Amino acid sequence: MLSKVYSCCFFGMDGYCVEIETFISNGLPSCQIVGLPDAAVNESKERVRSAIKNSGMEFPLKRITVNMAPADIRKEGAFYDLPIAVGILLSSGQVEPAFPMEDTAIIGELSLGGEVKKVKGILTMAIALKEMGFSRIILPRDNAEEASIVENMEIIGIKSLDEAVEYLKAPEKYKQPKKSEHPPEAPGAELDLSDVRGQENAKRALEIAAAGMHNIILIGPPGSGKTMLARRLPTILPDLKEEQALEVTKIYSIAGKLEGKSIIRVPPFRAPHHTISAASLVGGGTIPRPGEISLAHQGVLFLDELPEFSRRVLEALRQPVENEVITVSRVNATFSFPAKFLLAASANPCPCGYYGDHTRECRCSPRDIQKYFGRISGPLMDRIDLQVEISRVPVQDLDRRKGGATSAEVKERVIRAREIQYNRLKGKGLLYNSQLSIKDIEQNCRVSARAMDFLNSTYRRLGLSARGYVKVLKVARTIADLEEKGGVEVEDIAEALQYRITS
Ligand SMILES: Nc1ncnc2c1ncn2[C@@H]1O[C@H](COP(=O)(O)OP(=O)(O)OP(=O)(O)O)[C@@H](O)[C@H]1O
Ligand SMILES: [Mg+2]
Repeated sequence: MLSKVYSCCFFGMDGYCVEIETFISNGLPSCQIVGLPDAAVNESKERVRSAIKNSGMEFPLKRITVNMAPADIRKEGAFYDLPIAVGILLSSGQVEPAFPMEDTAIIGELSLGGEVKKVKGILTMAIALKEMGFSRIILPRDNAEEASIVENMEIIGIKSLDEAVEYLKAPEKYKQPKKSEHPPEAPGAELDLSDVRGQENAKRALEIAAAGMHNIILIGPPGSGKTMLARRLPTILPDLKEEQALEVTKIYSIAGKLEGKSIIRVPPFRAPHHTISAASLVGGGTIPRPGEISLAHQGVLFLDELPEFSRRVLEALRQPVENEVITVSRVNATFSFPAKFLLAASANPCPCGYYGDHTRECRCSPRDIQKYFGRISGPLMDRIDLQVEISRVPVQDLDRRKGGATSAEVKERVIRAREIQYNRLKGKGLLYNSQLSIKDIEQNCRVSARAMDFLNSTYRRLGLSARGYVKVLKVARTIADLEEKGGVEVEDIAEALQYRITS
């Protein structure tokens, strides 16, 4: 008998429907899976055989042919176990579904004992299946919460092959598991900007970075609080908007890093160690998976001690920082993952760390310093809008028990500035000032004539590069937004000019 079951797979950020036909005929006992299966699909045969037997059903001793279509998509991963097992049970007449199965998709990996195990990328697949017109998905119970974000889709979370069979026979008996309530996430609630004493200049720069999603680098001697400051950046970032939250959740679903959360609303914060490889940073692998830059999408990628990262890693970062997306090419396909993140970095001013410090003498030669910074200068530094030099906090400031504004206060200002940008840039599909091009700036920045004159004369005097010129305008626009001003004034340009060391 012939049966047809639908399942799903995903590549990059997109899901595709997979049709699984099973035909059982008389002949020597065999089981063949055709349609470009990879090793995981072939291994699936053994799991399916064992799971069916251990669930008290019969694995037919006949000639079984399983065809997976379309044949031109490479089918990786183990999530076809469950649909293949169901196909065999339907074809051998052991199960008769109580409803037509055209609008039902089945996804799940089986253990030898017949339990259904959690899989990656459920959210991506559920969204794609809905777009294709499916109305019901049978999937692992542990993935049910993740899939339930998709509206108007019946999500059937099951724990074992047995349960799947019971559901197919009598769907009315199935009880929807209760949705667990998640307390609102509070990222590093124990951290607050007011923990950092002094450093008002750096805190202000962080506020501007958060408001306009400008990349920022903090340069200063050891122990001046660079790491401390950067780790507090997430506490002043507004929650994600609905559309972004879904996109971020999709990335985490594909990476298998949702950790029980149903939807991610808090901007992610990723701080990979400087020994990270280029592939883990930007994403890759034979089946491409999102890297750290995509996991930081709509949030912060913090690279502590930037010059310690290998040159290859920093080179790999250039393209996504500019394009907000990372494209990975493989023999048979090209995958893209979004990567719009705020790059926050820290660096010592020289290898020993004390260049420019008043308390200790720097032991580095000019050549050492040049070599140290040579790694990050140039194209990457060019893409960092805010370059902030910080010095050690004087003892009296540390002592004063005065931390300045709290994260909550700053966050409120950031939220207002974001709303202003959002309303101004809506029509262009942009969200932040950092995304503005020179043309957008002309149309949107409303720079007063005096401010423009001031910038032009400074440009000539300081020999700013063209990129530096645009950077100053973008940052000045964010500063004006934080003050809720319609136009950019001289003082906004003047402040923006402070946040540059190179170009
Ligand atoms: N401005 C500050 N306010 C309060 N504590 C501070 C400040 N600066 C430094 N500290 C203290 O010093 C410690 C070290 O700071 P942090 O790790 O942020 O320095 P760093 O600039 O990243 O140094 P390194 O270059 O060595 O990584 C902090 O854990 C904190 O206890
Ligand atoms: Mg540090």
